[in-house]
Amino acid sequence: MENPFKFDTIVTGEHFCNRQGEMDFLHERIRERVKVSIVSPRKFGKTSLIINTVIRYEIPHIYIDMATIDDERSFIEALLQELSRKSPLEKFRNFLQNLKIDISLNLPFGTLDVKNFGEQTVEKIIVEILKNRTLILDEFQEVIALGKTFTWKLRSILQKTPGSVIFSGSRRSIMLNLFNDPKQPFYRLTDIFHLKIIPYEEWRDFAQFWFNKTGVPVSESEIRKSFETAKGIPFYMQYILHYLWEGKRQGMNLDEVIENLLKTNHHTYEYIFESLPHSQRKALILLAVEGRESYSRETLEKYDFPTPQHLQKALRSLWNRELIEKNSHWWILDPLFALWIKKNFYTERF
Ligand SMILES: Nc1ncnc2c1ncn2[C@@H]1O[C@H](COP(=O)(O)OP(=O)(O)O)[C@@H](O)[C@H]1O
Ligand SMILES: [Mg+2]
Repeated sequence: MENPFKFDTIVTGEHFCNRQGEMDFLHERIRERVKVSIVSPRKFGKTSLIINTVIRYEIPHIYIDMATIDDERSFIEALLQELSRKSPLEKFRNFLQNLKIDISLNLPFGTLDVKNFGEQTVEKIIVEILKNRTLILDEFQEVIALGKTFTWKLRSILQKTPGSVIFSGSRRSIMLNLFNDPKQPFYRLTDIFHLKIIPYEEWRDFAQFWFNKTGVPVSESEIRKSFETAKGIPFYMQYILHYLWEGKRQGMNLDEVIENLLKTNHHTYEYIFESLPHSQRKALILLAVEGRESYSRETLEKYDFPTPQHLQKALRSLWNRELIEKNSHWWILDPLFALWIKKNFYTERF
């Protein structure tokens, strides 16, 4: 029997848990043809939400993962590639002819190489796309790596071209800076939507539905504890439920399942942990054990930080490594890593 809980692919249909309110919100923005940014830490389900919305409401769209884009040329190639897959061939050929660029193509599913393009090429393509499609720019924070000139150019095009664009990004503060800082190019271009975790009740109904449907017994307290361990973060929730489902079929309980997961990930976690400087390790242990940062004299002493600034600096560096995130306080992104640290270092002296 196939495991109904999937953590390594985008899930759709009945494998996708709720997000009804978020999908309605997004659908509404798309219908109004306005631009919107979705922001959250990694693995909260931004890509899944966008993909499920465009599937469910049958929204014509062009999807670009900005993490795969190196420069203006590869952006043009990606846009054209997507457009070619989603347009009638004749129409696409006509469009290319009007673009007047130097391109070699092996369509419909082959490669597409742009040799030369003009100052206006990106704009023309985006205008064409936005006539009747939604443009999805995922991992948009990566645009920074493409340089100032291109970033400002993209902004000016998107600002003057009406149409539906969804920006989505993981590095929360970079995304917020991009869109909220007057000195940054994307200032006030869009509404910002903060994607949150999925609440317990939704996960409970979702998990019970699949455990029942596949005839694998589970208790509500196990689902609740899975939720608490995963902190409701979609990826970790699916990950734990996936192995809980396997485990229950072999007569294991949740504690054993989690113990196994920590063992499976032991080398990865150890590798990450050991690659860190001493002060960052201490900061991670502090977060894992105390649950959040604290600058009290007692805590600083316990974890051997001479001043609050030392702790702050370590936290900044951990954030740069994308190991921790900040909302109202700092927390470790991977809840299983946090658990692993707590288990391994709680009793040790440091
Ligand atoms: N609503 C959901 N229901 C069930 N699983 C989800 C949901 N949203 C996300 N997931 C799970 O979490 C994983 C990571 O989600 P993803 O959309 O890639 O996050 P992000 O784009 O924010 O990094 C997905 O592969 C999927 O397994
Ligand atoms: Mg994503």
